[in-house]
Formats: sequence, structure tokens, C-alpha cells
Amino acid sequence: MTVVKAENVIKDYGLNGTTVHALRGVNLEFQGGEFAAIAGPSGSGKSTFLHLTGCLDTITGGSMQIGGSDTSKMSRKQLALLRRHSIGFIFQAYNLIPVLSVEENISFPLTLLGVDKNEVAERTAQALKDVGLEGMAKRRPKEMSGGQQQRVAIARALVKKPALILADEPTANLDSKIGREILELMLALNKSVGTTFIFSTHDQMVMDYARRVVHIRDGQVESDEVK
Ligand SMILES: Nc1ncnc2c1ncn2[C@@H]1O[C@H](COP(=O)(O)OP(=O)(O)O)[C@@H](O)[C@H]1O
Ligand SMILES: [Mg+2]
Repeated sequence: MTVVKAENVIKDYGLNGTTVHALRGVNLEFQGGEFAAIAGPSGSGKSTFLHLTGCLDTITGGSMQIGGSDTSKMSRKQLALLRRHSIGFIFQAYNLIPVLSVEENISFPLTLLGVDKNEVAERTAQALKDVGLEGMAKRRPKEMSGGQQQRVAIARALVKKPALILADEPTANLDSKIGREILELMLALNKSVGTTFIFSTHDQMVMDYARRVVHIRDGQVESDEVK
């Protein structure tokens, strides 16, 4: 099943009266169950592509289909619902809510979805277990290491059981040992639950984990290799 279909996707940003051409006609398709890396140097358009795929921003031209729906034909409200139900996003800087505990950060997306209280508690506990943070439910993000915070961010993304998880340089702020653990965790989820992962990176170690590596440069696909 095709999860993401980008056709000639263009993204321009307006910046101080000039235009930045961040994506210049990107054609990419991702199937369910993929474990794929978007690689490229800083400024090549990786985050832009992931933000567009995650419906966090809108395309300037071309078309983007997520799960068979054309996002350019959807209202803001429909996009928010698609994002809330079907997509988990892991940010480079974790983006946890500092005033909430670990378990509150993880359960928040479920509460938004209107899931019943007992199920929220159950799924949150399971997600904590999946990422190996059972004993840390009551901590605040600032009381944890970077790797632990990234685990919380992963738990928050997977607690919704989304078909697609997008991760923007998920290991960039972690040392390589912890980075490996995070990748192993993502890979285990990909294998056990079949969650589709698309992550960006400029780190060779991270690319080595991927079963497919798409290189982008200056807003265009340079190569697309399935291993
Ligand atoms: N909000 C923005 N406003 C203006 N330019 C932006 C914005 N976000 C990204 N860009 C520019 O778009 C290009 C691609 O950026 P980005 O997608 O962040 O690349 P990467 O994630 O590969 O480092 C860069 O030239 C960057 O400066
Ligand atoms: Mg980036």
C-alpha cells in the first residue's frame, strides 16, 4: 500500500522579500512497512520534506498524497485530524512539554483523540515499556538525559499506533551509542508492528540502518537506493 506519494512537490519559503526554493520538484513514493532514510547535507530540504509529509506545512506546488488522500484538497481541520490519527512526528529537539510528566507527555495525544481513560492508562504504560522507561513515568523531561527524552518522544509518537512515523534527525543530539539504541528501538517497532518509518539524517551510521536511502541535494532527489 502506498503511504506517501509526492509528485513534483515544490516548496518555496518567503524570506525578507526573497524566495527560498527549498524543494524543487520532488517525486517520491513510500510503501507501508518501509524503514527509509532521507539523507542529505544541511539545508538540502530534509526537514521541509518531512514537515510537508507530516502535514505540518503546506506545499507550494505539485501534489502530496498521504494514505491516498490529496493533502492540497484538504481543509486545515481535515489535515489536523489526519495528523492526529495517522502520523507520529519525532523532532530533533524532542519537543516535549516541559511542565508535563513523562506519562502526561505520552498520553496527551490519546487524550486529544478522546480515547477513554482506562485505555489511555493502559496504552501509555505499554508505550513506556516499549521504549524501556517503565520506572520514569512521573519524571519531567528536564530530569532526563537526551536519549531518555528522545525515547519519550518516540513513545509519544507510537502510542497512537500511527501507520506512519516521521523522525527528523532523531539521533542528531545523541552520542553514537545512544543513537544506535534509538535506531534499534525504531527498527524493532517497524518489524513487530509494521509501522512505516521515514527519518532524515546526515549521519552514515543512521543511513546504514535504513533499508532504503534517498539522497536529496538542493531540494531535489539525487539518488534512491533500496538495499
Ligand atoms: N521557515 C523557513 N523560512 C525560510 N527558509 C527556510 C525555512 N525553513 C527552511 N528554510 C530554507 O529551506 C532550505 C531547506 O531547509 P531544510 O528543509 O531545513 O533543510 P535540512 O533539514 O536538510 O537542513 C534551506 O535553504 C533553509 O534555509
Ligand atoms: Mg533539518
